[in-house]
Amino acid sequence: MDSFMRFLITGVAGFIGSSIARRLIKDGHDVIGIDSLTNYYDNRIKEANLKSIESPKFELINRDINDLDLVSLLERVDVVFHEAGQPGVRKSWGNDFGIYVDENIRATQALLEAARSVKLKKFVYASSSSVYGESQEYPTKESQRCLPVSPYGVTKLAAENLCTLYAKNFEVPTVSLRYFTVYGPGQRPDMAFTRFLRAAVTGSEIQIFGTGDQIRDFTFIDDIVEANICVALGSTQPGDIFNVAGGSSVSVNEVLQTIETMTNIKLNVKYIEKVAGDVSRTGGSIDRITSAVNWSPKISLANGLALHYEWAKTTFGGSPSDAASDAAYTS
Ligand code: NAD
Ligand code: UGA
Repeated sequence: MDSFMRFLITGVAGFIGSSIARRLIKDGHDVIGIDSLTNYYDNRIKEANLKSIESPKFELINRDINDLDLVSLLERVDVVFHEAGQPGVRKSWGNDFGIYVDENIRATQALLEAARSVKLKKFVYASSSSVYGESQEYPTKESQRCLPVSPYGVTKLAAENLCTLYAKNFEVPTVSLRYFTVYGPGQRPDMAFTRFLRAAVTGSEIQIFGTGDQIRDFTFIDDIVEANICVALGSTQPGDIFNVAGGSSVSVNEVLQTIETMTNIKLNVKYIEKVAGDVSRTGGSIDRITSAVNWSPKISLANGLALHYEWAKTTFGGSPSDAASDAAYTS
């Protein structure tokens, strides 16, 4: 990135938000971050993420988006990366749905409403492959009809539709990035690879939801960060929607096999019931983002898994300083 810019990152204490912040600060940019430290997972992990981005170039606003004067904040930046949200496909049923509505739909609408009165260069929204539901064709194109199969997916699609609305009606320069299962160092504790690699290090049991035949297009975190930067700086149209997919098409069972070969450790695997909302396969076409801003993934699944494993060894490896951090991943 050539010129100096000012960025706002929502969800900056989370896995993806903190990874984007680390990169921007390293490149010399000013970053304002918003995060309310929700209780979706242990806040010791988010506090460690925040520690990793401490810098005179970084300012944290530890507040809920839904309670902030957003216009005065947006006036101070060129680009917004909106990563805040309630993630997790499998937990979005039942009473928790209200949280998904507040964090995913209401917070996005509040930001977009504020963005109407401010001249932003770009408003990048973290959408999700979960908007597709069970796809009709692979690799799935952005033009395919979206029929989410989880309440989470419904809220992510609603927020994406709000981005398109504010782009069409008020020329807010939105871009929605449909991330496909993001992994790598710092991945959330409820997600598959962090759980599997922690189990490899500690010997704990892995639970597989269903048969393990479900297929995912896994995307390495550095490729996600790069995609955000490419669309922020590149030439895009208000309301654009792009898949951001890593290019793998592997089943959960194949991932377990790869981890056993890579670590030379026999994993302790138990198969339990499938969870509603978990799609059988994802796989995204990246033709559109490649031709718009020349982005394509650089990290293969084998290389990305090796980097994730190195992080897991440090995080869960059992030295006294690791103990607190390991505990955060089990609570
Ligand atoms: P994460 O939970 O680690 O990060 C989200 C952060 O947002 C958290 O730190 C949380 O405290 C904060 N937050 C939530 N609601 C807030 C609010 N109202 N005000 C202020 N802060 C709030 O999740 P992640 O894995 O980093 O995901 C980031 C975004 O990317 C989410 O919107 C998620 O839906 C989307 N996404 C993630 C993946 C993935 O594989 N991780 C894939 C597709 C889409
Ligand atoms: C992930 C993120 O959690 C969502 O926030 C995101 O929106 C979604 O990707 C996306 O691509 O849009 P998911 O694909 O379920 O969702 O990612 P993982 O939690 O890493 O799970 C991958 C697969 O492993 C799933 O089929 C899941 O059922 C399985 N799994 C996961 C297990 O069998 N056991 C576990 O302990 C965890």
